Amino acid sequence: MEYKAKSEQVESLQSACVLVGVYQKRKLTPTASLLDDRLQGLLESLLKRDDIEGKVGDLLIVNHTGDQAIERVILVGLGKSGELTPKAYRSALNAAARALKATHAKHALSALHEAEVEGQTLSHNIRQFIEIVDSSLYRFTELKTESLAPAPKINKMDFLVHGAKSIATAEKAIEQAEATSMGVRIAKELANLPGNVCTPTYLADQAEKIGKRSKKLKTKILDERDLEALGMGAFLSVSKGSVEPARMIVMEYTGTSAKTKPYVLIGKGLTFDAGGISIKPAASMDEMKYDMCGGASVIGALAAVAEMQLPINVVGLVPASENLPSGSANKPGDIVTSMAGLTIEILNTDAEGRLLLCDALTFAKRYEPQAVIDVATLTGACIVALGRHPSGLWSNNEELAAAITGAADKSLDRVWRMPLWEEYQDQLKSNFADLANIGGPDGGSVTAACFLSKFAKDFPWAHLDIAGTAWKTGADKGATGRPVPLLVQYLMDRV
Ligand code: BES
Ligand code: MN
Ligand code: ZN
Repeated sequence: MEYKAKSEQVESLQSACVLVGVYQKRKLTPTASLLDDRLQGLLESLLKRDDIEGKVGDLLIVNHTGDQAIERVILVGLGKSGELTPKAYRSALNAAARALKATHAKHALSALHEAEVEGQTLSHNIRQFIEIVDSSLYRFTELKTESLAPAPKINKMDFLVHGAKSIATAEKAIEQAEATSMGVRIAKELANLPGNVCTPTYLADQAEKIGKRSKKLKTKILDERDLEALGMGAFLSVSKGSVEPARMIVMEYTGTSAKTKPYVLIGKGLTFDAGGISIKPAASMDEMKYDMCGGASVIGALAAVAEMQLPINVVGLVPASENLPSGSANKPGDIVTSMAGLTIEILNTDAEGRLLLCDALTFAKRYEPQAVIDVATLTGACIVALGRHPSGLWSNNEELAAAITGAADKSLDRVWRMPLWEEYQDQLKSNFADLANIGGPDGGSVTAACFLSKFAKDFPWAHLDIAGTAWKTGADKGATGRPVPLLVQYLMDRV
């Protein structure tokens, strides 16, 4: 989809499809009202029929306007004027996206961003529009040869804005949203691929390809020999059970002086997690192809940052592996030595994510990072604790936690802070090694974060558990691309 800011008078507008808002009850927004004048009161007269009231997400599709130059109008309900929350605005946009998907118009023009959204700006309104429409137009088609519904026709969207300042704001917002959307698409596409296609090697190849898009992005792939030489015994132990070799993807984005310390993003890249010898139950095991969503979101975020050419330095690290049972796999009770030197007793081979991440955290130290954020589908317990709305957030640094929470609220890719108290650390005690890789049944998402915190003492660090937010289950099964919007917003805020 192509997006543009367009400055034109409603009186002289030409469009295959115009989207405008209507407040409750039946109160046209300023542009809708001008359009109504142009259409000689058509919209008001249709509203009088009472088909829609203007509740959030209400839709009225006018397929014939009597005006040759305006083929269609989509009226979108925005609720009570002055009461539109960012979340309600998103619901309205989702309804608009549904209508856009269904229309046969190839081009459309929207004025929905003129809605007054509580505490928000024009830039936010336009970015949300693009991110929601792009997201709703996304389809995973790569591996379907049959029964594909025809693709939506819409391929060009204009935003109606007036005045040099608003035009500049809109253009900037479009640029940012397009970059974010591209990052989300990359994350979804990689995550939706099955484990037999998206192996650690495939993931690394894709990261290399994406890396080639920008001169400021350098991608290196570490193979098992490199990982061995680095002493990543915890990471390598997970991939022992698989014939697919492990990879560590290293993406370095240099947007400013090489001396400036980078932000490091680490993404869990389990291209399939069967649990290993502590094998998972069969039901829904297919969904463990999504266990690389953290890694995919880091790759997507780096692509977005490079696209926007943000003047900061960012490093993306994706330890990638499978976790399968076999004669050479980790066994419960095995003790491995991490790159940090700490020995770990593997009491459950299904708690593998932390074994990869701990070595990646130790590796991150060499960058002397300003901050490190790891992103992982780490625990089912996080879904039990928080459901599927926020990602869990843990951090050893108040400033970093506040920055992430702020970015989450802005991008509406939300998080909820969880504790990292000393009391929980005791659950990770082992009789035979420095620590165990599980902390028992209580507070599983917290003890997982506590485990990671032991490897993140030298820098401000945050951990996002995205087990509940990275994909949808059920009929709508598929990757969401979260938390790319959050990561990109956090990095934009660092400029
Ligand atoms: N990848 C899973 C976590 C997960 C489970 C994500 C369900 C999304 C949905 C992780 O590797 C795992 O298996 N964690 C275990 C930890 C346990 C053995 C301490 C879990 O959550 O059951
Ligand atoms: Mn697991
Ligand atoms: Zn896992």
